[in-house]
Amino acid sequence: MHNLKIDSGRLWNSLMEMAKIGATEKGGVCRLALTDLDRESRDLFVRWCEDSGCTVSFDAMGNIFARRPGRNNDLPPVMAGSHLDSQPTGGKFDGAYGVLAGLEVVRALNDAEFETEAPVEVAVWTNEEGSRFPPAMVGSGAFARIFDLEEAHGKADMDGKTIGEELARIGYKGEGCGGRDIGAYFEAHIEQGPVLEAKEKTIGVVTGGQGQRWYEIVLTGRESHAGPTPMATRRDALVGASEIVQAVNRIGHEFQPGACATVGMMQVSPNSRNVIPGEVFMTVDFRHPDDDRLKAMNDALRVAADAAAAKHTLMLKFEQIWSFPATPFEQSCVNAVRKGAEQAGFSHMDIVSGAGHDAIYMAGVAPSGMIFVPCEDGISHNEIENATPEDIAAGCQVLLNAIVDKAGGR
Ligand code: GLV
Ligand code: MN
Ligand code: MN
Repeated sequence: MHNLKIDSGRLWNSLMEMAKIGATEKGGVCRLALTDLDRESRDLFVRWCEDSGCTVSFDAMGNIFARRPGRNNDLPPVMAGSHLDSQPTGGKFDGAYGVLAGLEVVRALNDAEFETEAPVEVAVWTNEEGSRFPPAMVGSGAFARIFDLEEAHGKADMDGKTIGEELARIGYKGEGCGGRDIGAYFEAHIEQGPVLEAKEKTIGVVTGGQGQRWYEIVLTGRESHAGPTPMATRRDALVGASEIVQAVNRIGHEFQPGACATVGMMQVSPNSRNVIPGEVFMTVDFRHPDDDRLKAMNDALRVAADAAAAKHTLMLKFEQIWSFPATPFEQSCVNAVRKGAEQAGFSHMDIVSGAGHDAIYMAGVAPSGMIFVPCEDGISHNEIENATPEDIAAGCQVLLNAIVDKAGGR
């Protein structure tokens, strides 16, 4: 067993420094994928990695890899990673923590002049959040060959700007993507839910992630005057949409335990107070740890959407734009995380991830695992997202232990 230690103050300072890029008044971060602020955060990460002696490269998806050589560089690297993009009203930790914990592992290995057998890499995955360019996890998804490059480059934001164009604009469009061996992949992340805090555990040993489906729905009725148009003849797209919102929430409650069901986005057209809404665009996010139950939620949503459209004489466009199944993590990686927590003397429990993470796509191409730490009141995807320096440091120490477990060395 080694006695390597991460430097908690250095990790915390790096997180706070990174959080200045795109800082919001409420203490959070707005750093949407492939904006100038995303570029700034990438540039800072690259500078820090080069200062730590890493060789930095990026691929055709703008995924960044900082490599610390091992004793045997023919071995596939052991990788830590996460993302630097954020939600529009994101927090300081979602994503940035996993990236900077990876960097802290490299710095700690350097301090101790510890040579790992396999090389160690720290990855920054492009567009994990999917809030600017739906869907989520596109960078790691392209690396894992879930999306082909052309498809991934073609993903567009609400203004029609594509990932490919924006990568080129910010100077992070490299060559090639994926197709190389990764010895193991680990991602440290705040839990983004209430379980660890409630159970008073420091480390979540993540056994896998739940399945997820994203939908886009367009309801088209008829715009008309809010005054002269009788109630009986209206084709009000927003009234139909509101019934779908209710149905989504009902389905979420009906498919307990485990289901999550959210309408997070809606655009009403023409959005004028004295015009009956002619068109609504809305999104649905469904999640469940059991794929059969997730499929049944899908079926229930289709029935509800058809019923709402028929009742209000609306045209319905219903599209599932993205899905992935419930994904277990590889046992030896789960064990390395558990052992890493025990070595460091932290309380721990097994947990399933409610959120999507790059580790879920990486699990398709490399043995993968995740480390969760508690966050305050379980709140994330919110500017007030918070975690303690002690828990942040604990997760990073477990990451270090798991990486050394897999990479070997002395
Ligand atoms: C990613 O943040 C997700 O939606 O789970
Ligand atoms: Mn995240
Ligand atoms: Mn997120």
